Amino acid sequence: MSVEDVFNPCAVAARRTLLLGAGAMGIVVLAGCGGDEPSAGAGGQPGGSSAPAAPTSARGNPFDDTGSGRSGDPQVPSNALVAAGEVPVGGGVVVKDTVLVIQPAKGTFRAYDAACPHEGQIVDPPFDGNPIIQCPRHNSKFKVADGSRVDGPATRGLKGIKVEVRGGYVVRA
Ligand code: FES
Repeated sequence: MSVEDVFNPCAVAARRTLLLGAGAMGIVVLAGCGGDEPSAGAGGQPGGSSAPAAPTSARGNPFDDTGSGRSGDPQVPSNALVAAGEVPVGGGVVVKDTVLVIQPAKGTFRAYDAACPHEGQIVDPPFDGNPIIQCPRHNSKFKVADGSRVDGPATRGLKGIKVEVRGGYVVRA
């Protein structure tokens, strides 16, 4: 075995394979040798993983639960739920899978616990000015105006969350 063989065991395996012929055994021996291609996979991850690299952001996401964006961007209030401009007029969005933020009229925001009081399903945001919030699991219905129960197996309404707009963000009051 030469010095080159110590640093390149695949070269040794290739020579052995030649001695064994082109049978299946040779294919198995060479399976771990990648040839001259770099071993980094997609996204520059070592080890050939094809999983995409996690997205990075200098500002972070102010709406995730890690708090990374809260400390990284002083423009975002610490208790921000969502940018006001992200909530459609006459509709709503579910933030962090826990809070339903709605804007029934331009500049008017309300928020409710997004968990249905029946069995905890996350309710669907209203859209196109519909005055009803609906649960997709068993079709309980709640009023956009105050979260109260309208119909369905839920026995009570959605729990309200006080919010206000500050610096362009809907924040917990
Ligand atoms: S979980 Fe919402 S109606 Fe049943």
